[in-house]
Amino acid sequence: MRIKARMGVSIDGFVATSDGVPALIKAQHFVPGQSHGYPAFIKGVDAVLMGRNTFLPALGAPEWPWAGMEVFVLTSRPLPDGAPNDAVVAQGGPQELVDRLRSRGSDRDVHLVGGPRAIHAVAEIGALDSLEVVVLPLLLGDGVRLWPPDATPPATHLLREPRVFPDGSVELTYRIVSQP
Ligand SMILES: NC(=O)c1ccc[n+]([C@@H]2O[C@H](COP(=O)([O-])OP(=O)(O)OC[C@H]3O[C@@H](n4cnc5c(N)ncnc54)[C@H](OP(=O)(O)O)[C@@H]3O)[C@@H](O)[C@H]2O)c1
Repeated sequence: MRIKARMGVSIDGFVATSDGVPALIKAQHFVPGQSHGYPAFIKGVDAVLMGRNTFLPALGAPEWPWAGMEVFVLTSRPLPDGAPNDAVVAQGGPQELVDRLRSRGSDRDVHLVGGPRAIHAVAEIGALDSLEVVVLPLLLGDGVRLWPPDATPPATHLLREPRVFPDGSVELTYRIVSQP
């Protein structure tokens, strides 16, 4: 089982606007579940992991984005009404959540959806295997940074050749070499 993070990021390094709209949503021609090689990325994945701030907006989405996936949420509090009953919350923190992922009886991969704080928390305990970024052809000027400004970033190593998509986006895939 590998834990794979993947984020859409603006040219200037933001994953969301300052009011929390994901950079991907701002990208012209973005089709959820289709663009930027997502179907190939999600093949072999049967669980998603995310921080509370990424999970909550999905509750109001017209279509549940993770149908058929096991959902794990990093939060120190209970989930609100309306959250799927089978979403797993481990209030003991990231290590407890990763332990539960590893003991779920599947060797398939886990998509770490985000956001930056959740990715950092998983990297910090040595459990992040790879980080993929899709650099989108747009500038945001301000917003939520790919890595939390107050957190030590890990060393990374490019895993494969960058891939360019028709809309001008570029996919970069890194192995996490040393944890923060
Ligand atoms: N561009 C993309 O592809 C993409 C993908 C995903 C998200 N995003 C954007 O990312 C933003 C959210 O990112 P975020 O970093 O603010 O939030 P996040 O990582 O989604 O969630 C952070 C929350 O996780 C909980 N948590 C529990 N234990 C933690 C720990 N040890 N370390 C860190 N968090 C812990 C905390 O909630 P409690 O207070 O409940 O403990 C914390 O507030 C949104 O604007 C979203 O649009 C962008």
